[in-house]
Amino acid sequence: MIKITSILLMIAVCFGSHAQKNSKIDIDATKPLVTIQPTMYGIFFEDINFAADGGLYAELIKNRSFEFEYPWMAWKHLPQSETRFNLVNELTIYNNARLNPKNPKVVRVDKRNANQEIGLQNDGFDGIGIKKGEKYDFSAWTKLNKGNLNLLVEIINSKNQVIGSTNVAVTNANWTKTEGVITATETDANCKVNVYFKGEGQLDIDMISLFPQDTWKGRKGGLRKDLVQLLADLKPGFVRFPGGCIVEGRTLAERYQWKKTVGKLENRELLINRWNMEFKHRPAPDYYQTFGLGFFEYFQLCEDIGASPLPILSCGLACQFNSSETTALEDLDPFVQDALDLIEFANGGLDTKWGALRAEMGHPAPFNLKMIGVGNEQWGQEYFERYEVFSKALRAKFPDIKLVSGTGPGSKGEMFEAAEKAMTTLKPDLVDEHYYDSPQWFRENATRYDNYDRQRYKIFAGEYAAQSNGVTNPDNKNNVECAIAEAAFMTGLERNADVVHMTSYAPLFAHVNRWQWTPDLIWFDNLTSFGTVNYYVQKMYANNAGTNTIPIKNNGENLTGKNNLYGAASIDENTNEVIVKLVNTSSETQNFDLSINGIAKKAVGKVITLKDKDQKMFNTISDPNKVIPTESNVNFEKGLSTISLEPFSFKVLRIKK
Ligand code: AHR
Repeated sequence: MIKITSILLMIAVCFGSHAQKNSKIDIDATKPLVTIQPTMYGIFFEDINFAADGGLYAELIKNRSFEFEYPWMAWKHLPQSETRFNLVNELTIYNNARLNPKNPKVVRVDKRNANQEIGLQNDGFDGIGIKKGEKYDFSAWTKLNKGNLNLLVEIINSKNQVIGSTNVAVTNANWTKTEGVITATETDANCKVNVYFKGEGQLDIDMISLFPQDTWKGRKGGLRKDLVQLLADLKPGFVRFPGGCIVEGRTLAERYQWKKTVGKLENRELLINRWNMEFKHRPAPDYYQTFGLGFFEYFQLCEDIGASPLPILSCGLACQFNSSETTALEDLDPFVQDALDLIEFANGGLDTKWGALRAEMGHPAPFNLKMIGVGNEQWGQEYFERYEVFSKALRAKFPDIKLVSGTGPGSKGEMFEAAEKAMTTLKPDLVDEHYYDSPQWFRENATRYDNYDRQRYKIFAGEYAAQSNGVTNPDNKNNVECAIAEAAFMTGLERNADVVHMTSYAPLFAHVNRWQWTPDLIWFDNLTSFGTVNYYVQKMYANNAGTNTIPIKNNGENLTGKNNLYGAASIDENTNEVIVKLVNTSSETQNFDLSINGIAKKAVGKVITLKDKDQKMFNTISDPNKVIPTESNVNFEKGLSTISLEPFSFKVLRIKK
């Protein structure tokens, strides 16, 4: 009898364990909750890590205008000898032979003997990346003072062999742009450019430039195609630019001034990059801003990739991590005027001063600017007072332009709370919060906006990234743990889309050899580029945002981290689809029964999965596809299916309604 009872008990236990039910996730596609803004998932561009010069801006020559503080930086005299600048009598920096007053330094070439070999060599940004079969536009501004001199321009590979050249005649006694085209016969990431002066005589030369012809949209002097493509693939709702701390400057003189970045290229005044020597562990003394990527080009980029522009302007307060140099309130007018004029530059008619300049630069139609940011990551009373001055002037003249304010560098604590209080009174349309914190913080903060005061301003999560080792730590990695933690956090941003109107990861770009700050969304070298695991998280969100959130529950509760499970769901009214986002932050596979009310009796959905069981894994330039999304299908019968969430995984499901 005892035996029979225990056998029955064993059968019951076994049967019971087999029959153990999956936990259930319920989604109701018939109950739209709140609108997801088209701007929800965007990007934040700052010229840090050689993101602009040496990166997105495709110029291959560094210090093309000899305006770096040390004018010969990046240049060598040819032929080379023991003494670096052996040709002091033949190659001289003149600081008044100006092409224009903002670009005063030029090289004077004095060649008294036709048989002498004299030239200049530039090795670009840690070498020049050249591709076989591609054409490169060489140009330089020249002025022939006497005699007969021509240019022989050569691209040489890392073995010092010529892999392309052109001859360029110099004929004009006035400043003229001389041009030539070189076709490369080899691919090499570490090329140099030689410019030899042939003949006898004297000339002045400036703005020595080499661009690939194969730029984004084939624009002359344009942007690097592979990098813009990675941005376009994100389908970002907006681009915030040009920074970041670069807007503020270490001092006010070094702040970003948009007016100096528009108009003719040769008239754009060079400025030191504030990340030049910011970090002792990653010094970059050769980091300057040429502004070849200036405000016109930023607006054009936004238009190209269908993103709303969000320019950020100096509020008269230099970086508070640096000098904190402050403009007195009574002297703030020129700063405010810059903001007013920028709106005119972007949107103004052709009869306005700045609208006319936009047209002259090739874009008569307005850029449709709808928002503007006052100050970057500023804090304290000094900031609030200055914000108020801007706000009054901007609201009075351009009531339809949305205003974005900051809250400082942190997302908690006294400084942050003071900003929250001030902004509740000052009422910007959007308030920019920054989160640089541990993966744990991101996992724990998926509920950050669940109980947020709905009457307050809207949130712009303007800079965020999980830090594997700590903020500004050079060992930070763009690994799976950080990316999956961000995916978990973002379920909370999307679930609260009535409060959170915009979000962007930071920083965007980094050169693999020349970065100052890590982690970053996209890494590149002189020839190639790749998306990090974090990039794919952003892409999966931005490409699958939906138009309205819908309820998603596990045992009647939101999916906010219980059992390491996170989730958000939406419908896309344009494509008539249900979109489900699920994140498993644990090292165990979790299976769920998924029930969706409001889809066809039989439905096939698409599943995009990003996962790796090793949460320390990350993509690299030599192995860029270690962790990338994969696609599969999922079948629904009467609205039901099962879903398996692998360790450290993020899944997006799209099902036709
Ligand atoms: O993204 C790098 C820097 O981090 C930004 O310039 C600044 O806004 C933040 O402190």
